Amino acid sequence: TIFPEYLAPLELSLIGKARRSGLVELAVHDLRDFTHDRHRTVDDAPAGGGAGMVMRPEPWGEAIDHVLAAGAGERPGVVPTLLVPSPSGRRFDQAMAHELAGLDWLAFACGRYEGIDERVLDDAAERLPVRAVSLGDYVLNGGEVAALAVIEAVVRLLPGVVGNAESLVEESHEGHLLEYPVYTRPASWRGREVPEVLSSGHHANVAAWRHEQRLRRTARRRPDLIAAWLAEHEPTPRERELLAEEGWVG
Ligand code: ADE
Repeated sequence: TIFPEYLAPLELSLIGKARRSGLVELAVHDLRDFTHDRHRTVDDAPAGGGAGMVMRPEPWGEAIDHVLAAGAGERPGVVPTLLVPSPSGRRFDQAMAHELAGLDWLAFACGRYEGIDERVLDDAAERLPVRAVSLGDYVLNGGEVAALAVIEAVVRLLPGVVGNAESLVEESHEGHLLEYPVYTRPASWRGREVPEVLSSGHHANVAAWRHEQRLRRTARRRPDLIAAWLAEHEPTPRERELLAEEGWVG
């Protein structure tokens, strides 16, 4: 990155704690450390013309070589997967987060401006897996925010990072459904009550209610996810009824 400070939040909260307890190791590298001119230049005009600036290949090549060499000493035989945040990458999702959480070593190349000279990625791809990753169908100013999001989504899946592993099971995007709504005390607030079933102590009823809420909410907010859920579940008559009530038409 040319903005190491952008990645300062990685010292905070669960990720910071995971780093301090040795569950994950993380290092931030300043791209400008790999320049050799007085102005520490990292960009230049796009070949072929057009708006904006493109990141020059030399500092990126040196930076990637450095990260590979530094890490290889500690993990003989292991190569990182290079993730390149970009709006033209493959869409990041929970399935990809799980996949990345299974890898030993991830490296991120955070581009700015109009992007990184394509030869950097072609060159790196001869030595390591390279994947362009997009956070979503919108454009950020650079890869740092996307890297933060990917790192947070991946690191929280590592064993021991989230204290209560059960909280990873029924959350949004696990099993294709969104999470059910949650409540806490007080039982009554501004005239609004916590749903009665949640105070019943009847675990099966609570579980059934939560499942219905997940299904309803997903049908309402993210009907696109229901098809994936249906591909893995034969809906009960009750589930069909709920989907129909929420206006889902398959
Ligand atoms: N860089 C700029 N926009 C981006 C996006 N949507 N996802 C990932 N990286 C980006």
